[in-house]
Amino acid sequence: MSKSTLAALAACFLFIAPAQAADVAAGKALADDECADCHGEDGTGDDDNPAINGWTVEKFTKAMKEYQDGTRTKNSKMVKAAKKLDAAQIADLAAYYATLK
Ligand code: HEC
Repeated sequence: MSKSTLAALAACFLFIAPAQAADVAAGKALADDECADCHGEDGTGDDDNPAINGWTVEKFTKAMKEYQDGTRTKNSKMVKAAKKLDAAQIADLAAYYATLK
């Protein structure tokens, strides 16, 4: 197997593993506590905060990782919110927001 094949496989597992363990109800509880103040009860956002409802698990997980490692934006409030989360919490939130339309 080539190095790039291995890297692609590893990337798949990073996305798939948390999705399997995800708990939508826990994600909703966490979202209500930590995210709804800015992004709204149903994730639809407002003039100052982007809508995040209906994001796929992949897109959501990638965004949160990028806030955590500083490669997305330097928006301090959002970086702070993301840094409080562990991988399981991100998976739960991703599963929850993906259910919102
Ligand atoms: C204090 C307000 C605030 C809180 C709390 C907050 N966010 Fe955000 N969030 C923002 C702002 C402002 C942006 C846009 C920042 C930027 O330009 O990257 C954003 C961006 C995002 C994005 C990327 C949206 C896009 O269109 O690029 C995601 C995903 C996200 N937030 C998820 C969350 C989650 C999940 C939580 C709860 C754990 C949370 N946010 C808590 C204000 C907040």
